[in-house]
Amino acid sequence: MSEAIAVKNITKVFPNVIANNRVNIAVNEGEIRAIVGENGAGKTTLMKILYGLYHPDSGSIHIKGVERKLSSPRDAISRGIGMVHQHFMLVPSFTIAQNIVLGVEPMKGLFVNEEKLVKSVKEVSARYGFDINVDKLAADASVGEQQRAEILKSLYRGAEILILDEPTAVLTDMETRELFVMLRRLVDKGKTILFISHKLREVLEISDFTTVMRNGQVVGTVKTSETDQHQLAEMMVGRETIGGRIRTTCYAKDTVLKVENLSVLDSRDLLAVDNINLDLCNGEILGVAGVDGNGQEEFIEAIMGLRPIINGKITIEGKEIQGLSTREIRESGIAYVPSDRYRSGIAIDAMVWENIITGEYYSKPYSKGLTLVMNKIITITKELVEKFQVSTPGVKVKTGNLSGGNIQRVIAARELGLENAKVVIASQPTRGIDIAGTEAIRQILIDYTSRGAGVLLLSADLDEVLALSDRIVVFYGGKISDAGYWDEGIRDRVGQLMTGGLGE
Ligand SMILES: Nc1ncnc2c1ncn2[C@@H]1O[C@H](COP(=O)(O)OP(=O)(O)OP(=O)(O)O)[C@@H](O)[C@H]1O
Ligand SMILES: [Mg+2]
Repeated sequence: MSEAIAVKNITKVFPNVIANNRVNIAVNEGEIRAIVGENGAGKTTLMKILYGLYHPDSGSIHIKGVERKLSSPRDAISRGIGMVHQHFMLVPSFTIAQNIVLGVEPMKGLFVNEEKLVKSVKEVSARYGFDINVDKLAADASVGEQQRAEILKSLYRGAEILILDEPTAVLTDMETRELFVMLRRLVDKGKTILFISHKLREVLEISDFTTVMRNGQVVGTVKTSETDQHQLAEMMVGRETIGGRIRTTCYAKDTVLKVENLSVLDSRDLLAVDNINLDLCNGEILGVAGVDGNGQEEFIEAIMGLRPIINGKITIEGKEIQGLSTREIRESGIAYVPSDRYRSGIAIDAMVWENIITGEYYSKPYSKGLTLVMNKIITITKELVEKFQVSTPGVKVKTGNLSGGNIQRVIAARELGLENAKVVIASQPTRGIDIAGTEAIRQILIDYTSRGAGVLLLSADLDEVLALSDRIVVFYGGKISDAGYWDEGIRDRVGQLMTGGLGE
């Protein structure tokens, strides 16, 4: 087997952070190499160096045994390296085919040869067995389709080495399985894949070798078939970690959030939430499971005033909140962690403190009339940064410079820092967050219930729902079914309800 790519002694320093510290990794052709490590370990930085986006301070990159300088993504692409980022970058108003060929369109004189364009894209997608409708607008494509488009975009440009930075973070279980089938097909055709993920179960399933990073350094590389979750987690964190169910006591008492006969439309004006009733008690964690796209997101958005309702009543401690603005709804005592950190979560160009204080700055103790009390803000932000273990050189740095998982923690700190919330709605609260951060956030949710708040926990990760929930409801086709209180049999019940298998 011959070597596809190697990095030797790569070091990259940002102000106050050594993101990569003498990193050595070599990957063979036809291999799937997983790269794992805690938030801020340096994974994305290393991949951006390989894609020519960052320049290392020292060290070298070798492609098929030859040292290469990669000073831009264009250089990287010409050497056969492609990268799919943590968040996608398609042009929404273009079709999938147009996005795939963007910048390298086949021409006919001065014009783009549309016919050839579609034909050549279809050829590439057929060659690798991709199931994708290339005539669709990117705006209408599902997350899975957008990702396939991004991968095809790299393949179209001749990628031999494909970098996938947390590709499964945004996918459902089903889409992940489809992705893995595609990845296997790609390595069968001799491609090399660098795969980053926080989900160790996936890493164990898909990769040949796994490299563990911690604090910018490589801790070690192991053959995946000879390791397990425990060993990997220990290498990542440097200590034993927990797993499985962590919820012990339920504090449920009275109803705090009541939803009656709620109906909501989706963005295409189709009925997404169909006459739903739900009671959340204070002191309980109510898990909301379901395959993506069954109405659960629209349901939460309607509660938060982000989506109009066509019928129904929503109350917090008996007080109606439907029709109020999102800000008024938050003020009536709901803390909300949104699932999409790039769209509804965060201002990438704002500083960390600004993002943490957003939504709160108009109330005491942050403002005195119109004057922001800067010292107070900085003190409180620093406390939250510590509590949520946000790894950042300071609170006055650009949020976009933090690692993906640390940005997610900033959102959690902003929303879950409010200790007196009566209701917490957490949508994928630990997506993209590493083991230690996940443990911390789960504990914070539990602490809320011991103070008497009710927690509504939405997650595409069934293990997370099962680890924390006292009771679980399942969305299917815009309707809700109750899987009951937690017991040993609940996983099966939830699984059946998720595919519409029980009841009706
Ligand atoms: N452009 C930048 N400017 C300043 N610091 C940066 C920049 N990019 C990354 N860093 C810092 O480098 C370190 C490594 O970040 P990196 O994004 O590589 O982590 P990661 O392993 O991908 O983490 P995650 O799992 O959270 O995505 C972090 O401390 C991060 O704050
Ligand atoms: Mg990253």
